[in-house]
Amino acid sequence: MIVVVGSLNMDLVVRSPRLPRPGETLSGGPFATYPGGKGANQAVAVARLGAPTTMIGRVGADGFGQMLRIAAEVDGVDVTGVIDTPGMPSGVALITVENGGQNTIVIAPGANAALTPEDVQAVAHQIAAARVLLLQLEVPLPAVIRAAAIAHAAGVTVILNPAPAAVGRLPAELLANVDYLVPNETEAAVFLDESSGVPPEVLARAVSTVCGVPNVIITLGAAGVAMFGPAGVTRMSAFPVQAIDATAAGDAFVGGFAVALSQGLAPADALRWGCAAGALAATRPGAQSSLPTRDEVLGLLEGRRM
Ligand code: RIB
Repeated sequence: MIVVVGSLNMDLVVRSPRLPRPGETLSGGPFATYPGGKGANQAVAVARLGAPTTMIGRVGADGFGQMLRIAAEVDGVDVTGVIDTPGMPSGVALITVENGGQNTIVIAPGANAALTPEDVQAVAHQIAAARVLLLQLEVPLPAVIRAAAIAHAAGVTVILNPAPAAVGRLPAELLANVDYLVPNETEAAVFLDESSGVPPEVLARAVSTVCGVPNVIITLGAAGVAMFGPAGVTRMSAFPVQAIDATAAGDAFVGGFAVALSQGLAPADALRWGCAAGALAATRPGAQSSLPTRDEVLGLLEGRRM
């Protein structure tokens, strides 16, 4: 079982020839609505890869909330830990995707902001029984801290994707309970005073040292990943794909890595699963709509298809 404590957002997405400059209005392409949120994306990523998954979070008592719950459930995620929040809207993400696949995202957290340590404590038995706990930073820090503490005390592997970076430096009481920290380069830079021009392998080691987290994996998009852990540095290239939308590629990486790790693969081998899942997600539009199945990931790993 993999438990995810995190956000659920409805993503409101417009494609655009390029990302707008401050104050600029652009005429974009088609508009689309996708179930998203880093927490729910990671839960769905895990479920599509065949591992039992439980999602803990909050939605508003509104139409988006119902759709977000159903979308995860249809993919096999246990959503009994997703709480309705009367009087608050569900989380929403306003996303612009340019033709090269890069995006900008602004979130209105809505009900995600109402998740409390008490909510997390109420499902402590589920967290303590998990193999892996997945955390991100789109729900309040006290809830994330409580979840990590429960999991660590029970010997559960804790993976923290410290996104979004805007949350800033994290408290030691959280980092002390994290086994794997998985930032992208922007998020990794938050942990250091100076990181410009630093090679990713050196960055991963530095973040591990500064944060006191034994394993750090820096995701680099088309440049692959760099991991630092007790076995030293591992560098892995990305699978070459035609990327059209980077949304949720990082979530797919985390889900793939977590599933492989939970099934007993060594961290270096689990990285390949993460890279394959992330690459496939970048080839399709949207968040949960882009996440690959187990068969698709195996196909890419075995060279059967891209
Ligand atoms: O990681 C991608 C996700 O970030 C989107 O689905 C959006 O909801 C934001 O949370």
